[in-house]
Amino acid sequence: MESEIFVNQLIDWYRHQKRDLPWRHSKDPYKIWLSEIILQQTRVAQGMPYYLRFVEKYPSVEDLANASEAEVLRLWQGLGYYSRARNLHACAKTVASDYEGKFPSTFEELLKLKGIGRYTAAAIASIAFDQPNAVVDGNVYRVLSRVFGISDDIADSKTLRIFEKKANQLIQGQKPGEFNQAIMDFGAIQCTPRSPSCAICPMTAYCYAFNQGKQDALPVKSKK
Ligand code: ADE
Repeated sequence: MESEIFVNQLIDWYRHQKRDLPWRHSKDPYKIWLSEIILQQTRVAQGMPYYLRFVEKYPSVEDLANASEAEVLRLWQGLGYYSRARNLHACAKTVASDYEGKFPSTFEELLKLKGIGRYTAAAIASIAFDQPNAVVDGNVYRVLSRVFGISDDIADSKTLRIFEKKANQLIQGQKPGEFNQAIMDFGAIQCTPRSPSCAICPMTAYCYAFNQGKQDALPVKSKK
């Protein structure tokens, strides 16, 4: 499929189908960061009440930094992976003390913070700061592998860079936060792991997987 057609279809789809999610009403990097850390953990429906409780209790990064660890862990209860909650708290303290309460605005600077990996750095940089850094997660592997017929093994750690490169080409000239969230929603709602909704998909005319009947075979993931 041609890149330009894909991007146009994707953005058009998103403008009609996008989910109304609470963090999408804000460009506050603190709220974007919080939502992304919680959503690493869980699906949107399960993560939403946690997000709402955190922003209510801690409206700013300083409020979170000043909380006790016990209180933060209590609010996190049910999400699991408590090291993530500890990293969340540690990151808030660093931003409050070393960055005057302001999250850095570039991918590279964000990566230096505790608990922020390539995915989260790209999400914050694009959504909060309009930087053209594409996110790559399971949704992105699935959508791009199917649409463009990319058959690299996603269990291989070298494959991440291949998809990042493709996604970073596609995001050029787009509104970065919109592009990233469009591909997240398209993967979550339309181009799902099992039984994707090809019957109502705007991309079937061009989609490699649809035309080859390979929806179930892509993305390729070996058992390692
Ligand atoms: N999953 C992770 N981050 C997300 C976001 N910003 N919107 C929707 N789903 C997500």
